[in-house]
Amino acid sequence: MLSHLLHLEGIESIVLESHTRKYIEERIRAGVLEQGTVDLMVNAGVGERLKREGLEHRGIGLRFSGRACRIDFQELIGRTITVYAQQEVIKDLVAARLAAGGQILFEAEAASLAGLDSPEPRIRYRHSGAEAEISCDFIAGCDGFHGVARAAVPKGALTLYERVYPFAWLGILAAAPPSSEEVTYSNHDRGFALSSMRSHELSRLYLQCDPDEDITNWSDVRVWEELHLRLAAQGARELTEGPVLQKGITPMRSFMIEPMQCGNLFLAGDSAHIVPPTGAKGLNLAAADVRVLALGLTEFYRTGRRDLLSKYSAICLRHAWKVQRFSWWMTSMLHQFPDDSGFDRKRQLAELDYLMSSRAAQQSLAENYVGLDVSLNL
Ligand code: PHB
Repeated sequence: MLSHLLHLEGIESIVLESHTRKYIEERIRAGVLEQGTVDLMVNAGVGERLKREGLEHRGIGLRFSGRACRIDFQELIGRTITVYAQQEVIKDLVAARLAAGGQILFEAEAASLAGLDSPEPRIRYRHSGAEAEISCDFIAGCDGFHGVARAAVPKGALTLYERVYPFAWLGILAAAPPSSEEVTYSNHDRGFALSSMRSHELSRLYLQCDPDEDITNWSDVRVWEELHLRLAAQGARELTEGPVLQKGITPMRSFMIEPMQCGNLFLAGDSAHIVPPTGAKGLNLAAADVRVLALGLTEFYRTGRRDLLSKYSAICLRHAWKVQRFSWWMTSMLHQFPDDSGFDRKRQLAELDYLMSSRAAQQSLAENYVGLDVSLNL
């Protein structure tokens, strides 16, 4: 996305992608786009297929205490979300970059960064069995939680903030029509469950499980049984089963570093922050970062000024902390905490009851879920 946005401003870039094109275009990841992310894709000229194939959702479902409720984003705030898988976003962006003659080096693994404080930082990487080096003006560290970019920042220069949750998500992709029309979250005595989709024929479903759960303990039969139990609610349609195409476990953590910049290295997306998936925010937060970075780099190449670049970290962190707060809040409201004395359980149910009785509370959830604007003014 960053490379494409820079290209639109006439700024050259090289993307080092450690995986193959096939791998990144097929890997199952998140699926919910905020309105702002959809607008970014459309305004950047890569939203055609998204507009055609994306499923616009006007709200979400919430289940608790046997009740099936709905939060209507459209009615509450006049904005919506779109279900369109991350790998589809990737496909559209890769195609746009290659069609424009952009440079993406697949299977190019960044090994180390140097000269971050110099006007010409360098990246060493391995490609086609050989070592190579790139010198450039700026490095964007968009290489995820385990990447080399954050690791290249001197230890003392970063402050880390982290919360690891005592549970994980077991997710399946199933060849079954989704049984609810909208993304539906359930708080159940047996643990959290989530029903989502990728199309009218493909369901994406999740169950709260132990963080060190052995996936071989979860036969397809057991997964479906548990989903039926946890998603059951009065008046709700029964889950439709189908062949399980993929199954995996996702750990849950909240993670932030400050600042998101070191000299001419700018960190974006999961290299700088991880949110638990309950708010469906990871991809959207990464898109928000690179939009700010593209604006900052555009200002620099047009005018030689670094006004926006120098504020990159502060602008992104201000937004990211609000997204962290929302993701933490959704996570705490919907999961069973193994160390709970019973107090948290009662508090959660009161929270959900309050939410469904208060338009103000629903509006607050809606504006966060659909996506807060990033303010460029500090
Ligand atoms: C998904 O469709 O994969 C999904 C939906 C909502 C979430 C997380 C994941 O909060």
